[in-house]
Amino acid sequence: MKKFFAVSICIVFLLVIVSCQSNKKENTMINKSSFGKLENGQEVTAYTLTNKTAQVKIIDYGATVVSLTMPDKNGKLEDIVLGYDTPQDYAKGTSYFGAIVGRYGNRIGKGKFTLDGKEYKLATNNGENHLHGGIIGYNKVMWSAEPLEKENGPALKLTYISKDGEEGYPGTVKLEVIYTLTNNNELSIEYSATTDKPTVFNPTHHSYFNLTGNTENTILDHELMINADAYTPVDAGLITTGKLEKVENTPMDFRKRVKIGEGINKDFEQLKFGKGYDHNWVLNGWDKTVKLAATVYEPKSGRYMEVLTDQPGIQFYAGNFLDGTGAGKNGKPYQLRTGLCLETQHYPDSPNKPDFPTVRLNPGETYKHTTIYKFSVK
Ligand code: GLA
Repeated sequence: MKKFFAVSICIVFLLVIVSCQSNKKENTMINKSSFGKLENGQEVTAYTLTNKTAQVKIIDYGATVVSLTMPDKNGKLEDIVLGYDTPQDYAKGTSYFGAIVGRYGNRIGKGKFTLDGKEYKLATNNGENHLHGGIIGYNKVMWSAEPLEKENGPALKLTYISKDGEEGYPGTVKLEVIYTLTNNNELSIEYSATTDKPTVFNPTHHSYFNLTGNTENTILDHELMINADAYTPVDAGLITTGKLEKVENTPMDFRKRVKIGEGINKDFEQLKFGKGYDHNWVLNGWDKTVKLAATVYEPKSGRYMEVLTDQPGIQFYAGNFLDGTGAGKNGKPYQLRTGLCLETQHYPDSPNKPDFPTVRLNPGETYKHTTIYKFSVK
């Protein structure tokens, strides 16, 4: 009889363990599928990370987030990022939808900088300036992908080796990016990198969010908070002047949550230069730890996004260059200001601005950067 009880207890235990594991599998999942081919025939693979409510799909071309599905206040799941349907569209595109951009996110004035007395000339792809890593930035290359089951949710590790001289930059940089869809509905992005020669380094993530879940709506009713008392003003070519300007009494003041549409068309020179918001904000109290930088609330859907980072700045870009040309997902073009970017970063043109925090990366050092986009409803 005793033996019978012992065996039964063991069987019950085993059943509990097996059912827990299959629950875990049901709740979180990484699925691999084909995303089609590039023009040169190269296969692009999509990895879909699913937790118990949300889903993110990432491709190995450009380490690009191609869709991000989050519930609204009624539990309705909708895709809240802009993108394309095919790899060829990503290859042709000039909007950096969902990609990791680099080696340097945002602009480097006149496409040049000096390091240890030597001048480096970079590819210029934005008038006379260098933007988002140049002509073939990190958004236009194939990365190696490896799915990971992390403690806090399904993840994808992407690696890329950026060779010495690529787009004009010195040093071979080995970069690793880990996207995790946590069980708390956070999209966490962790970067780490090393170099074999001194270089400048400032990668970022370039998703365009539209929290309404319908990209026919603009983002003008989204309410934005940026935890910054100052921003870095730009010249007419969108190159930072080197100064920090207070946001107080200007349409750049997002210290309290405010509708993006409220100030975007105001008669303010900086907004003329950017055709709207396209600026870097200087985050308060930067100490290299991960903290709240910005929040976005969309009243109709109730979706709420918090952006946490360990970076000193954040570029808020209101989709001012989207102009309804070219087809986005499902063949639909994206009209002006139908997506917004919050790109965590070092200040633009830092390699030429000695007073800005340094973006220099030396051999023997490891670059680290964490940014979290956290989703909930209110
Ligand atoms: C960044 C830049 C913008 C623009 C977009 C991409 O946000 O600051 O000026 O280049 O990327 O279109």
